[in-house]
Amino acid sequence: MKKSLICSLMILTYFPALQATLGERLTFAKEFFKASDGAGTMIECSHAVGQELIKYLMQLQRDNPERSLRVLQLGAGTGSITEVIAQQLRTIDHLDAVEKSDSMCAILHQKFDDKPNVSIRCLSIIDWCPQETYDLIISMLPFTLFDVDMMSKVIEHLKKLIKPNGYISYVAYLGGSKLKKLFSWGNKKQEHEKKMSILKNFRHSYKIDKTIVWKNVPPIRVYHLQFSKA
Ligand SMILES: C[S@@+](CC[C@H](N)C(=O)[O-])C[C@H]1O[C@@H](n2cnc3c(N)ncnc32)[C@H](O)[C@@H]1O
Repeated sequence: MKKSLICSLMILTYFPALQATLGERLTFAKEFFKASDGAGTMIECSHAVGQELIKYLMQLQRDNPERSLRVLQLGAGTGSITEVIAQQLRTIDHLDAVEKSDSMCAILHQKFDDKPNVSIRCLSIIDWCPQETYDLIISMLPFTLFDVDMMSKVIEHLKKLIKPNGYISYVAYLGGSKLKKLFSWGNKKQEHEKKMSILKNFRHSYKIDKTIVWKNVPPIRVYHLQFSKA
């Protein structure tokens, strides 16, 4: 009785935020098992995570009431966070949502092709080289699952894609890195430590704030960086 009450409470806390259909959930879970550097989790992020991730979009909109803003989302998945960003966009703003998985992209096209200020880009972020830069980059990429080379490449690429004083907000599952460190040995452990130090340097050069969103499975940390180019 006690157990089922706790389970119901957990479901009530987390799942209303996850408005994905069964098909979307299955696609997401399939990607999780398919690619070791892919989804990073079996469930999409919650609405609460989306609300935290659009914090600096709202600030940019307040500071620039007339200027159109360019937003880039990395690793859009099946679109739960894309939805939150799209709802916050004004008609003058534009979102490019990048996703490398074909099956997730098919779902994104279904959901967002009728939205004039959202463009779905089906490719790896490394291959996305637009002419214009972005005011805000929201990353859902599973950084810690990438190898050292890929992680460094992505970070360098992001530095090219962001405008001076633009914001980069990204997520990291709470405890994910510590767990990985605990369960890796030898070369793998060394590689993991190297990745963590690359990420830490990147963060420490630009971090403005971080917060934990508990209303997500699993809880997640959101980092906000402001990227000032010298
Ligand atoms: C943790 S999931 C986030 C999905 C979703 N935004 C959500 O609501 O949780 C990470 C996503 O990043 C995508 N991804 C991984 N590597 C990528 C890359 N190099 N370029 C673009 N997307 C990538 C995966 O396919 C997956 O959909």
